Amino acid sequence: MVIVAPSILSADFTKLGEEIKAVANAGAEWLHIDVMDGHFVPNITIGPVIVENIRKKTSMFLDCHLMINTPEKYIDAFAQAGADMITIHLESVADPLVVIRHIKKTGCKAGISIKPETSFETIRTIIPEVDLVLIMSVHPGFSGQKFIVDVIPKLKETSEVIRKMKKRIYLQIDGGINAENAGLVKKNGADVLVAGNFIFLSKDYHYAIKRLKEA
Ligand code: DX5
Ligand code: ZN
Repeated sequence: MVIVAPSILSADFTKLGEEIKAVANAGAEWLHIDVMDGHFVPNITIGPVIVENIRKKTSMFLDCHLMINTPEKYIDAFAQAGADMITIHLESVADPLVVIRHIKKTGCKAGISIKPETSFETIRTIIPEVDLVLIMSVHPGFSGQKFIVDVIPKLKETSEVIRKMKKRIYLQIDGGINAENAGLVKKNGADVLVAGNFIFLSKDYHYAIKRLKEA
């Protein structure tokens, strides 16, 4: 069964606590938290203070997706705030392995993410050291974008490499996921589906999450 990770970027921030409770009750296991700095991506979103406040209100697995420059400066802050997973972008660091090892030293799980135009080859040698690989299926920065189907061969290739590893490595897909493409991404190896608009703009979170799980 896949894990569904609602992206709170699409939630109603005036009632964030209720929104989180609602997706947890609706069957979501992880909470996806999109961190943006206005430099690595054009948008600005959430920092460690919000993560710390969320941590006080939920036992959900907090999956922090850092779309920021120099993420190494903020790893300790997100770990102390209560993150469970910290995912960095390959394109944002000079030496990804140094930052991955830093994340693991804090006790958090570590993920590596690549943009749609970044090739699988850039992460091949990093995979054995991470707990999660995130294949972006939109250009990072905003929720509500259209799924880029061209990333499917890369997803499949990543999945084939991950399956040969001895440890559990999650394969996450993020961007434009809905009930129409959930089956396709699962068939190509994704086991953690991030969804923002599809869940939070639906009237029935339980039904939306069920559709993603059963697609
Ligand atoms: C994009 C973010 C995604 C996004 C998902 O930069 O990383 O997590 O908010 O939202 P939807 O599912 O609406 O594309
Ligand atoms: Zn994300």
